[in-house]
Amino acid sequence: MLLRLIVKTSELFPAFRRWAWKRWYQHIAGYTVDSWSFMNYGYEPLASATERLELQEVDEDDRFCIQLYHEVASAVDLAGMNVLEVGSGRGGGASYVARYLAPAAMTGVDFSAKAVAFCRSRHNVPRLNFVVGDAESLPFEDETMDVVVNVESSHCYGSMPAFLQQVHRVLTADGHFLFTDFRAAEEIALLEDQLQSAGFIIAEQDNITANVVEAMTLDNERKQELIRNHISGWLSKTFQQFAGVEDSEVLQSFRDRVFVYKRYVLRKS
Ligand SMILES: C[S@@+](CC[C@H](N)C(=O)[O-])C[C@H]1O[C@@H](n2cnc3c(N)ncnc32)[C@H](O)[C@@H]1O
Repeated sequence: MLLRLIVKTSELFPAFRRWAWKRWYQHIAGYTVDSWSFMNYGYEPLASATERLELQEVDEDDRFCIQLYHEVASAVDLAGMNVLEVGSGRGGGASYVARYLAPAAMTGVDFSAKAVAFCRSRHNVPRLNFVVGDAESLPFEDETMDVVVNVESSHCYGSMPAFLQQVHRVLTADGHFLFTDFRAAEEIALLEDQLQSAGFIIAEQDNITANVVEAMTLDNERKQELIRNHISGWLSKTFQQFAGVEDSEVLQSFRDRVFVYKRYVLRKS
């Protein structure tokens, strides 16, 4: 109920949405817990024939969150590409892309200065860097990025059209926008209209809600333990909602398909 109220309020007042998310992400970036590098709900393949993604031992704890990045970012061969991630959070996804998918350069941008400071000290990876910047006014020159990646961040933005205009501007003429996020079910048509109105061609799209629900279910215990170990007092309930653990309204909303999680491969031309 509370979550739906927040979603409704932020639909009516986009500036409030931006402000509230910025406060929240600045706050949680203050938790300098090295083992916490991701803030997405994860992805688990459902087809039993799917080959298990090979990960180094050090990445196994983050398997579900990494699998979401893999599902999104491996749609295009990133080897030798200049890649930008908008909304890079605690940096685990940008680090995964830089270490496993061989881009020429990987830049993560986030509007939380504290998150960027955390990423710079946590992820010391060649060709990876992090900068402070707003999705609605990206601090990059026109046509400088081959690929833009965006994972579970766009629902926070004040203006989706402003963000899409920025992605379109920074992409090279044959660039790709690899995008995933959730929306209330009745907002999916609007989202797809916004993508096309911004000039993108939808090359691929999937409804991955069932994959996300499976990941949330399987990753529940790890998240509960992180919260138990690092968050105290009344905030732990807020974190449980945010993390989408078992019995949270977020997880139930995905199970009931009140929220739908989508993945898109978009081409600039
Ligand atoms: C749910 S987290 C996802 C982080 C990361 N993509 C991941 O999957 O772990 C959303 C991120 O988007 C960032 N964000 C929200 N609004 C933003 C904006 N207007 N500009 C840049 N970053 C933004 C937040 O600071 C946060 O780090």
